[in-house]
Amino acid sequence: MHASVVPYTDAQLQALMEALYQRYSYDFRHYALPSQRRRLNHALERFQCASLPALQRIVLDDAVAFGQLLQILTVPVTQMFRDPGFFLALRQQVVPVLKTYPSPRIWVAGCCTGEEALSLAIVLHEEGLLARSLIYATDINPQALQKAAQGVYPLLRMEQASADYLAAGGTGWLQDYYTAEHATVRFDARLLEHINYADHSLATDSVFAETQLICCRNVLIYFNKTLQDRALGLFHESLCHRGFLGLGSREVPNFSSVADDFEPLPEVAKLYRKRARKHVSGVRHDT
Ligand SMILES: C[S@@+](CC[C@H](N)C(=O)[O-])C[C@H]1O[C@@H](n2cnc3c(N)ncnc32)[C@H](O)[C@@H]1O
Repeated sequence: MHASVVPYTDAQLQALMEALYQRYSYDFRHYALPSQRRRLNHALERFQCASLPALQRIVLDDAVAFGQLLQILTVPVTQMFRDPGFFLALRQQVVPVLKTYPSPRIWVAGCCTGEEALSLAIVLHEEGLLARSLIYATDINPQALQKAAQGVYPLLRMEQASADYLAAGGTGWLQDYYTAEHATVRFDARLLEHINYADHSLATDSVFAETQLICCRNVLIYFNKTLQDRALGLFHESLCHRGFLGLGSREVPNFSSVADDFEPLPEVAKLYRKRARKHVSGVRHDT
């Protein structure tokens, strides 16, 4: 934080989040404080504000300014085939099970600008499953969702993306899935038509479909325990019997109220499977 900025208390930070919720219905009240402080310090510099109450006045008065703050608070950072080992494990261990469903539904929660959902679509396509799959990709950041729906990305990012695609077990060439247009690339509409992008908040919205696989990666790290618990509860409710959950490299379902309901896949990082329900004396109980 810049030296001339007045330090602020956690109570002031919470007051800002409460005010944003009341004014715009975006609920950041249960995010992890340390990372929220980092985001806000960045916002104070960006808006050239000397104090948090001053920033609060600006964003409450001006919806455009709030839109800019939203870009800082939501951390819209992602890439294709992020953690390639995750996508390789998905291809090898999860896709064979997904193939047993007539029409698998997959939820990418916190999809950002769409690279993760697109990566999944490519894996499903190469495994012959995309045509009968539906991917729901949700986020709270409207700008990110708009970009995601376009499927247009900087050409510069494709070198890293191609290397990660191959490390993730890609069976062709990444460039076969896009058309270069000057400094950008446009991904094939035949991939995008299987992805349904929508606004959905893990903090305030409820489950909207039964799914066989949920990927929610690098999102829970920004939530406090209460909100992690809520999100994991939604995933548990949405997943079918023995459905799969993929998390980010620094995320675990432990310590949540549904922790015992998920088991890690053997020798695979960050992929979990919903445990089978226990049957007691012929009565079904959710474990
Ligand atoms: C760091 S990005 C992760 C993107 C992608 N999942 C990945 O792993 O590359 C975090 C995303 O979570 C979204 N997000 C934050 N809070 C959310 C909420 N309450 N509900 C849904 N998405 C949220 C942000 O808008 C952002 O796009």
